[in-house]
Amino acid sequence: MTSQPHFGLTGLATMGANLARNVAHHDIPVAVHNRTTSRTETFMAEHGAEGPLSAHDSIAGWVGALARPRVLMIMVQAGAATDAVIEEILPHLEAGDILIDGGNANFRDTQRRHEAVGAHGVHFIGSGVSGGEEGALNGPSIMPGGDRAPYEESVRPIFEAIAAQVDGTPCCTYVGPDGAGHYVKMVHNGIEYADMQLIAESYDLLRHGAGLEVPEIARQFERWNESELESFLIEISARVLAKTDEATGRPLVDVILDSAGQKGTGRWTAQDALERGVALTGITEAVFARTLSALKDERVAAADRLAGPTGRAGGADASLAEDLGHALYASKIVSYAQGFAQMAAASEAEGWQLDLGAMATIWRGGCIIRARFLDRIREAYDAEPNLANLMLAEFFAQALERAQEPWRRVVARSAELGIPTPAFSSSLAYYDGYRRARGPASLIQGLRDLFGAHTYRRIDRDGSFHIAWGGDGSEHELG
Ligand code: ATR
Repeated sequence: MTSQPHFGLTGLATMGANLARNVAHHDIPVAVHNRTTSRTETFMAEHGAEGPLSAHDSIAGWVGALARPRVLMIMVQAGAATDAVIEEILPHLEAGDILIDGGNANFRDTQRRHEAVGAHGVHFIGSGVSGGEEGALNGPSIMPGGDRAPYEESVRPIFEAIAAQVDGTPCCTYVGPDGAGHYVKMVHNGIEYADMQLIAESYDLLRHGAGLEVPEIARQFERWNESELESFLIEISARVLAKTDEATGRPLVDVILDSAGQKGTGRWTAQDALERGVALTGITEAVFARTLSALKDERVAAADRLAGPTGRAGGADASLAEDLGHALYASKIVSYAQGFAQMAAASEAEGWQLDLGAMATIWRGGCIIRARFLDRIREAYDAEPNLANLMLAEFFAQALERAQEPWRRVVARSAELGIPTPAFSSSLAYYDGYRRARGPASLIQGLRDLFGAHTYRRIDRDGSFHIAWGGDGSEHELG
């Protein structure tokens, strides 16, 4: 690499600034830019000496400073800001330059931008970046999609250098054409929603079902982090639960308002699943649970109005705590199985040829859902690349079989106690629905035929059939 930077980054808010520093820490020259110059000045004053960083006030100066082919990464707010920045940069670029959007773009926007930018001969890479503030600085999981050849030649060496590494393998791989990288990042975020919902339900049941105090629950999460449940989110659950509020001396979790926010990637994942006809119940229930959590005033009013149990009265129930670990693991398998089924469906429909095992590999480190069991997912796809559903892989089928009795007890017990467990319950319903060779949809088809003449198929011969419900009740085969 010459001393003239190949890599430029615009947008020096938290994620952009940390990514630029990460690149510079690897001795790769970086030219930075930000719309508001004062932010650039503060960045250079604080971090300019950490590596080969140079700053530019204008877009023209910034683009002009880069060696060709230029690699320019945009780290600004997703949506209209990204379009505005692309429009501003594009006239300064030349054919063969590479524009990367590292924001949380909707994959449909990335597909549109890929085409629009490509019309100017400029390559476009839409890249998911996960890991939050800390990951961006010390090693994120990176999910790049778009034009492959320029990616491999000019971007890959930089991304692989700055990505998290697990067992010597970078948590970064080329995902697929056009919007594939941002799509996979969206599903990653959806899985993160489901993981967090399962954790919240576990906490609720440990507290109001098993009767444990908050510090004991923190220790339970620490123990779980020594098991097959080992993951970043379980680890930080223990930390949040162990935290005491300085002002009141109470557990921090008791003074935080019970109303969860969302930026929209979980909702996108659920919407996409509905459009594709993928049963993504875990993630979707997690999105709805956040929606319900936001109705704080209504819930407070309803608490006095609507009858029912609200947890366990009396002493601790150790058996529920024991069962919960199994229920959590099984439900987590189901939510990943659903997320991977969604990626498989999208890959097929969009012609992306996603390597699902590789997605598990790049999520092993750097990102928020990093977890021990992602290795097992990769092994499952290595053994059987066309696996119809992750639950069918030997390892996971056996894990679900072992977990199912305690899982059922947890769901039954939570219903009795009036503790809502939408993620646990819907995961179990999906498992039971999926393993059912014959279900009750025959009745639904019968109903549809009666009220709307929608016809039905038979189990014993081909064709479409309709009953003359308003006539003589006879069956007719339709051509
Ligand atoms: P974070 O959530 O980490 O704070 P963000 O809101 O996703 O970051 O992105 C903020 C970044 O987008 C900032 O660098 C901001 O530039 P300013 O420092 O000038 O505010 C940049 N940004 C937002 N809208 C922009 C636009 N229309 N054109 C250029 N940059 C923009």
